[in-house]
Amino acid sequence: MHAQVLDWIGRRAELVPPGAAVLEIGSLDINGSVRPLFAHAGRYHGVDLVAGPGVDEVADAADWVPPRRYGAVLCAEVLEHAPRWADVVATMWSACEPGGWVLVTCATDPRPPHSAVDGQEVRAGEHYANVAADDLLSVVRRLGAERWEVEVAAGRGDLYLAAQRPTAS
Ligand SMILES: C[S@@+](CC[C@H](N)C(=O)[O-])C[C@H]1O[C@@H](n2cnc3c(N)ncnc32)[C@H](O)[C@@H]1O
Repeated sequence: MHAQVLDWIGRRAELVPPGAAVLEIGSLDINGSVRPLFAHAGRYHGVDLVAGPGVDEVADAADWVPPRRYGAVLCAEVLEHAPRWADVVATMWSACEPGGWVLVTCATDPRPPHSAVDGQEVRAGEHYANVAADDLLSVVRRLGAERWEVEVAAGRGDLYLAAQRPTAS
């Protein structure tokens, strides 16, 4: 992940109260992890399709059924690699406690295609598609978000979303 992603998530980590449980989707530590930003969390659980550093559970988040709810649920630089990204977001929403935060960073246009493996050329058979801000927002609105913040860094093709799950949900 690049420095701006770490910085954006680092600032949102302050929304998460000490002791809250945190879930990260796509948590494999390839070249840096956001996990240390949540040192104040009570429990941190990382889920990824691939086993390795930073991964507590191997699962496809599009189908995974969360065993509990979390005060914050995040994914960094994952959705552009997930053919069923809207289902991944739905899983994240269902895993989030009322009043908790869903935090997403992903690639949007004009970010060039890149592999989930190493950020280089997309491998044969590997999915890649940038995510449009309007599409991401319409998914979280359909899931019930009433309060959100969307940011696009158009030059880099970065898309950032913080959405709070309503307290009465
Ligand atoms: C580009 S890497 C990003 C890893 C890390 N979050 C970072 O920012 O460095 C994308 C990760 O998302 C994982 N991923 C993609 N689709 C997924 C899915 N449906 N469920 C769980 N993990 C997924 C990939 O296996 C990969 O480890």
